[in-house]
Amino acid sequence: MKIYLDGQLVPRDEAKVSVFDHGFLYGDGVFEGIRVYNGRIFRLDAHLERLWRCAKAIMLEPPMSKAEFGRAIEETVIANAMPNGYVRAIFSRGPGDLGLDPRKCSKPTTVVIADTIKLYPPAVYEHGMECVTVSTRRSRPDVLSPAIKSLNYLNHILAKIECNRAGVPECIMLNDRGLVAECSADNVFIYARDYSGRAELRTPPITAGSLEGITRDAVMQIAAELGIQPSMLRSWRAAQNGMPSRALAGLAATNGQVASPADLASENAKLRRELERTRMERDVLKKAIGIFAEVPR
Ligand SMILES: Cc1ncc(COP(=O)(O)O)c(C=O)c1O
Repeated sequence: MKIYLDGQLVPRDEAKVSVFDHGFLYGDGVFEGIRVYNGRIFRLDAHLERLWRCAKAIMLEPPMSKAEFGRAIEETVIANAMPNGYVRAIFSRGPGDLGLDPRKCSKPTTVVIADTIKLYPPAVYEHGMECVTVSTRRSRPDVLSPAIKSLNYLNHILAKIECNRAGVPECIMLNDRGLVAECSADNVFIYARDYSGRAELRTPPITAGSLEGITRDAVMQIAAELGIQPSMLRSWRAAQNGMPSRALAGLAATNGQVASPADLASENAKLRRELERTRMERDVLKKAIGIFAEVPR
């Protein structure tokens, strides 16, 4: 495996970062998780945009242009001969001293890892999964903006620990006002029908404390193309069926808090039929080919 580290592709064992790097000491940095399907990098431009936005939010000056970093990501994917997988692209604040002042860090560390990752067992994608609502809340925007995809994921890790203790693979995180924000590291969708039987896909607004997910955006776009109305989720109680989404996980269905297992099975079947093309690993990739950045060979 080859890792991109500060401008060079190096063997995995040589990809070493200083213990004085503030990414390691303080979680000071930003990152992206990007899927690769059939040799194509999923919405690379959108991921680069978000990375640059997040870097700006923490006043980190990327050491290269978006185009250069895009090429570095493509080169890493190619070097690892990885037609399907996952890319982790990182800007950390870089090496400094033991104080937290970022001005002591003269140059950000740049890392790209291309690897495979399995989040949920395959059965979960077919049959759904159990989910708990955890007590750990998403951080308030004036404490630590949930829009910043920073290297500090403790908020999510604490939620994940609650999942582990409950023996379930995923959870719902609320914001400080008690509204549904997202899952442990995924956006969440509710598939519901209104009184006239019209299918709707609801998701919490970004202002509820969810990350502006790139998969979220793709799902809403595709749902609209399928004639399923995407709308903003106001109340979890309106939910019948949930579906976490993120680049890392693909899409999976959950019974959330309100659906019985029988409801879940039938809702899942409906959901899968109607949203078949939203399954990232399948036809939708071919259909929506225009939204992918092509990896040069
Ligand atoms: C907190 C959080 N929410 C949502 C997502 C999903 O975002 P995307 O679809 O852009 O991967 C992620 C992805 O890692 C995440 O960390």
